[in-house]
Amino acid sequence: MLLGLGNVPTLETPLFFLALITYSMSIIGNILIVVLVVSQRHLHTPMYFLGNLSSLETCYSCTILPQLLASFLTGDKAISAHGCVAQLYFFGSFAGTECHLLAAMSYDQYLAICQPLLYASLMTWKVCLQLVAASWLVGMLVSAVVTVFLSQLKFCGPKTIDHFFCDLTPLLELSCSDTSMVTLPSIILSFLSVVFHFLFMLASYVYIIAAILRILSSVGREKAFSTCSSHLTVVTTFYCTLLIVYVLPRTALLRQLNKVFSFFYTVLTPLVNPLIYSLRNREVRDALRKALRKAKACTQGAQ
Ligand SMILES: *[C@@H]1O[C@H](CO)[C@@H](O)[C@H](O)[C@H]1NC(C)=O
Repeated sequence: MLLGLGNVPTLETPLFFLALITYSMSIIGNILIVVLVVSQRHLHTPMYFLGNLSSLETCYSCTILPQLLASFLTGDKAISAHGCVAQLYFFGSFAGTECHLLAAMSYDQYLAICQPLLYASLMTWKVCLQLVAASWLVGMLVSAVVTVFLSQLKFCGPKTIDHFFCDLTPLLELSCSDTSMVTLPSIILSFLSVVFHFLFMLASYVYIIAAILRILSSVGREKAFSTCSSHLTVVTTFYCTLLIVYVLPRTALLRQLNKVFSFFYTVLTPLVNPLIYSLRNREVRDALRKALRKAKACTQGAQ
């Protein structure tokens, strides 16, 4: 049983509509970006990262929200054991992929700002493909390892999860066997990937900000800063919520706050990320304008 967001009946309806609206908008927005990126063949590599990030966000919201919305509607809070493990696996692998993809994107920005003359020769289509493929593969692999270890545990006691989806920590609390078999590998794996990427991104941004401060013209400085500030916002939000949800101890108060923050990064990030990236990106806006013009010409031709 997934207890959901809390048992406050007056909040059920507003929360349902909030989740429904953000879900539909993030699916539409992200699919639009993927279609734009795929339909325009001449785009530069940052756009491929953006397209992949949007497909990732689409998958990400599909692992949690349909089930949450259905439980709001039917009042049925049950989830099958296989469904729960599947949700854990897919959620973990998409979250892991997102860490790697964000790191790859910050490397791309580092090259664009700090090595502008070498950018085209360093960030070729092949390098981009390798970075993207590695992100997806490592994310799926790490999550698979953790899920396999988890499925070895025994669950004999209570069956209610005080959360709105099957996340690792609430599941581990239900187990009656020794959970160090799961926590140890998952701590090592997440430490390796999250901390390594976090430090890597931190280093990229230190270089980027140093390079921006060296730009003498205020127009150039502003332009460079606006490209990377959107990315910095996304990265900071993602890592801060991860930190709050997974690193802080689970006391009674934090447990409730935990749900709020989980709601943020599972429901709101998939909506906010494409908005932040695409509205601030001239290439996306131009592509959108071109697609709209083409669509208009088509409908006029049809009449
Ligand atoms: C994802 O990245 C790959 C490699 O760069 C690219 O070929 C592909 O078009 C991207 N996918 C989307 C949906 O943008």
